Amino acid sequence: MHSPASSTLYLLCSALFIHAALTTAVDPLHAACSTSKNYTSHGAFSNSLHQMMFLLATKAAPIGFALGSVGHGDSRVNGLALCRGDVRSSACAACIRSAGARVRDLCPRNNEAIIWFDECMLRYSDTEFFGDVDYDHSFSLFDPRNTFNTGNVSDAKAFYGKVEFLLERLKNKTYISPLLFANQELEIGESRNLYGVAQCTKDISGGDCKKCLEAAINKLRGCCRGQRGGRVVGGSCNMRYQLYPFLDDA
Ligand SMILES: *[C@@H]1O[C@H](CO)[C@@H](O)[C@H](O)[C@H]1NC(C)=O
Ligand SMILES: *[C@@H]1O[C@H](CO)[C@@H](O)[C@H](O)[C@H]1NC(C)=O
Ligand SMILES: *[C@@H]1O[C@H](CO)[C@@H](O)[C@H](O)[C@H]1NC(C)=O
Repeated sequence: MHSPASSTLYLLCSALFIHAALTTAVDPLHAACSTSKNYTSHGAFSNSLHQMMFLLATKAAPIGFALGSVGHGDSRVNGLALCRGDVRSSACAACIRSAGARVRDLCPRNNEAIIWFDECMLRYSDTEFFGDVDYDHSFSLFDPRNTFNTGNVSDAKAFYGKVEFLLERLKNKTYISPLLFANQELEIGESRNLYGVAQCTKDISGGDCKKCLEAAINKLRGCCRGQRGGRVVGGSCNMRYQLYPFLDDA
């Protein structure tokens, strides 16, 4: 039999736990809201959007990817959800659900938006975009503490040469993979490894995936040469390299 004191303590602990779980929700890597058209908060578009978010989380969970369209005419919304290839189905659904909630906070009236998290991406628009490579939404990230600061330029150059080899191999592997997802390790001496991962959305062809990854490699060269780690995320593909493993099951 529970004493009243222990039940109270139990309730208090659960409340604290729930509070902690809510406040430690992961922040998005980035979000972009298009301001070309806005919807009204309780209109038909808003309803379609709400239904679509629910649909995408449900559909994407087992396979890590989903497309969906809801509504007609002006209230029609098209959406795409992608989870990182190694993410389990329950985490995938949870990530897409929170992406849906966060994108509605960050882009409350926008007819078009995209949001990226570490484990998933969500995009929606009032126009159809399925099957076209998205070169417009792209964003790069690196850890500024990780700058190659040995002061040895030839070291940094040799390092990026290895990064480029890794990225090239990764591209070759990803676009022919049925999942359009691949990871790759490369030993770079002194028992250190480079780790890379690449992924395309499954609405585009292998050939378009290759082009998208080539653009990502170019972009990485621009943002991240001289960095020990870098990442480019886009609407149709993403690519990342680090000196440490970062996948759940790597
Ligand atoms: C949509 O809303 C944003 C933010 O309030 C505003 O800057 C933008 O001009 C609006 N766009 C249109 C087409 O009304
Ligand atoms: C710089 O790096 C190159 C290539 O790794 C190495 O041969 C050279 O000794 C390094 N120089 C210094 C001053 O550390
Ligand atoms: C990638 O594929 C191309 C074309 O097949 C090949 O020439 C190249 O050597 C490959 N690169 C790597 C690093 O595997």
